[in-house]
Amino acid sequence: MRDLVEYATRDGVGVITLNNPPVNALGAGVRQGVADLVERARADGGVQAIVLTGAGRCFCGGADIREFGQPPIPPSLPEVIDIIESCPKPVVAALHGVAYGGGFELPLGCHFRIAAPSARVALPEVTLGLIPGAGGTQRLPRLIGVEATVGVILSGKPVAATSALSMGIVDEIVDGDLVDAAIAFALACAEKEGPPIRVRDLEVAKPEPGFFEDERKKIARRARGLIAPRHCIESIENTTKLPFDEGLKKERALFLECRESEQSKGQRHIFFAEREAAKIPDVPRDTPALAIQSVAVIGCGTMGAGIAMCVADAGIPVRILETDADVLEKGLARITKSCEGSVKRGRLSEADKDACLGLIQGVTDIADIKDADIVIEAVFEDMDLKKEIFAKLDTVCRPGAILATNTSTLDVNEIAAVTNRAEQVIGTHFFSPANIMRLVEIVRGAETSAQTIATVMAMARRLKKVGVLVGTCDGFVGNRMYHHYTRQAHFLLEEGALPSQVDKVIYDFGFAMGPFAVGDVAGLDVSWRIRQRRAETRPADERYSPIADRLCEMGRFGQKTRAGWYAYEDGSRAPIADAVVEDVILGVSKELGFDRRAIDNDEIQERCLYTLINEGAKILDEGLALRSSDIDVIWIYGYGFPAHRGGPMFYADQVGLKTVYEALCRLAEVHGDLFVPSPLLERLALEAKGFKDL
Ligand code: COA
Ligand code: NAD
Repeated sequence: MRDLVEYATRDGVGVITLNNPPVNALGAGVRQGVADLVERARADGGVQAIVLTGAGRCFCGGADIREFGQPPIPPSLPEVIDIIESCPKPVVAALHGVAYGGGFELPLGCHFRIAAPSARVALPEVTLGLIPGAGGTQRLPRLIGVEATVGVILSGKPVAATSALSMGIVDEIVDGDLVDAAIAFALACAEKEGPPIRVRDLEVAKPEPGFFEDERKKIARRARGLIAPRHCIESIENTTKLPFDEGLKKERALFLECRESEQSKGQRHIFFAEREAAKIPDVPRDTPALAIQSVAVIGCGTMGAGIAMCVADAGIPVRILETDADVLEKGLARITKSCEGSVKRGRLSEADKDACLGLIQGVTDIADIKDADIVIEAVFEDMDLKKEIFAKLDTVCRPGAILATNTSTLDVNEIAAVTNRAEQVIGTHFFSPANIMRLVEIVRGAETSAQTIATVMAMARRLKKVGVLVGTCDGFVGNRMYHHYTRQAHFLLEEGALPSQVDKVIYDFGFAMGPFAVGDVAGLDVSWRIRQRRAETRPADERYSPIADRLCEMGRFGQKTRAGWYAYEDGSRAPIADAVVEDVILGVSKELGFDRRAIDNDEIQERCLYTLINEGAKILDEGLALRSSDIDVIWIYGYGFPAHRGGPMFYADQVGLKTVYEALCRLAEVHGDLFVPSPLLERLALEAKGFKDL
């Protein structure tokens, strides 16, 4: 136990050091160690003060999230913090790197906090569907006021050392050796008369009347249906109503309610799933990645421009190739406009915008990208064009350079086959808008080397993206599943539903938008072109809904034409149900011989989500995703699946695979083959297992 927390005395100061790599998480052994060592220092007559610090890269990454859901092991974190706070000798927290969650609540229980310039404090519990459960909601308002506390806790975002100092969270920022400074600080504190000041004893300044009501209104839409943000506000508000001990008790009860909720389980699942996705069994962590010092992007359209922006934003120089100078100029102008928009919205500083634009250079000659370490192709979705470009790139680019395609559906192996470097060809499927969406599906071809995969995974991290490795198939993991989900939505229209009803069911489930509203944003012509391409190979007996094609034939491409599944008024993105669309739908129902019926919301939810899950199961069975949690990550970061549901495969496990399986069997009896459960889903359901057991 002792090696998880170390102890030494220096100059009459007991130095307690958390030493639980990688992030000093506060597991049971660490909590017990801190409690014991504070008691030991307290009892030691030769010790006048205590310093609490962390070894390694940070002070502390918080409670050990893996322990949630396990039977509790004493002492609890609030108990440990109480021991620290009630110690009559001054306890000084010395922070460097992150001090997050419980790793910030612990210093709040100390009497003083000093920080290295690298320190960042945060209470990110809300991002895990939790509230701070070890005094954070009760102590922070006493230190910095309720208004600032609401900002810190509801955003979950880190506060840098300098801001922490100006907000009054830390007492001093120190350069040089942190522990030396903390010891000197602690000795000076020990000189002072009387017991050290405890945060719990500070007065809470009352906010403006109506403050908490306003905050509740602010989160009503953003945190729709979520328990944790509401509980955070309630608990912070308690500091203005209840004595400290009662507020603390209430906080713990609210924390425990959140911890046991399905929502938090889903969000915790995603925290680990995201990190798991970085682990690839045949590409060990120590696989040497190539250094990426320059990037080239081909095509300055929607995706190429977005990709170039996020590459430059990560500080990497990028050349962007268009063969036509006018098209290039227009593309670059769009990039500038987009960056300026980010400055206006406060997402980018003027200086960062200039730095970003300074790293982007437009070129029209392929010879100008010959030295790039990686080329990302983002031209039209046309196999012949992509093959022509890859053949050229293979001769122009230096040996060893990686050639990546941003294709959303095409076969990476077929593209790789036109080169003499198939091991360095890979898919990097960014999502639109590429500078915002966090997902990149990294598509492995049959011959893609481990080094290429390691390099592109590392590059994705550098671009602050979540890279998920997938295999090659039509649509890869995300779009293949999305196709089945939207197809089901279209069939529901033929049978009796309308776009607004389907969209409302999916919105109420927690997605930001339903499939029809998404279609209008993405542009209906995009999927129309894909359907036209697939028409030749579509089996004649496969059920196919012509409604979307009919809308496209009328020039309704979505928001860009102010008409799609919905109508849009000039300058507005608010969808309005459109009688023209209803006529088209009713016409198609009649043509196909459907007797339209009232379709209830449960049927809509089941049919859309269970077909999605069923396709996910097929993908797993075919080995195109490494694990079910990778599919969850793809859907959370690429398609806006509600994070608190943990992704489609986690959601299926929560519902129970037996329930999903039985519903699919029932649906298959009515609607035929489309719903036949995948063999994997069937096996797991019959064995009473979940995707998590694979
Ligand atoms: N409990 C358990 N494990 C944790 C953890 C925690 N609080 N924080 C991090 N880890 C684990 C990660 O799962 C990862 O494990 P792996 O290497 O087996 O995949 C490892 O520590 C490193 O974490 P990672 O996120 O990859 O490192 P990083 O340096 O990029 O970020 C943190 C470090 C602490 C900023 C980040 O992990 C984080 O935000 N953690 C959660 C903090 C939090 O929400 N605490 C409140 C809990 S209620
Ligand atoms: P786009 O039509 O907006 O842009 C394509 C650009 O490529 C155009 O600017 C065009 O001038 C340029 N181009 C064409 N031939 C070229 C050549 N020989 N050399 C240099 N430039 C050339 O298309 P997009 O939406 O950005 O899609 C690009 C790729 O990304 C496609 O493969 C698409 O499937 C994929 N993708 C698109 C999205 C999306 O939502 N738009 C999402 C993921 C992936």
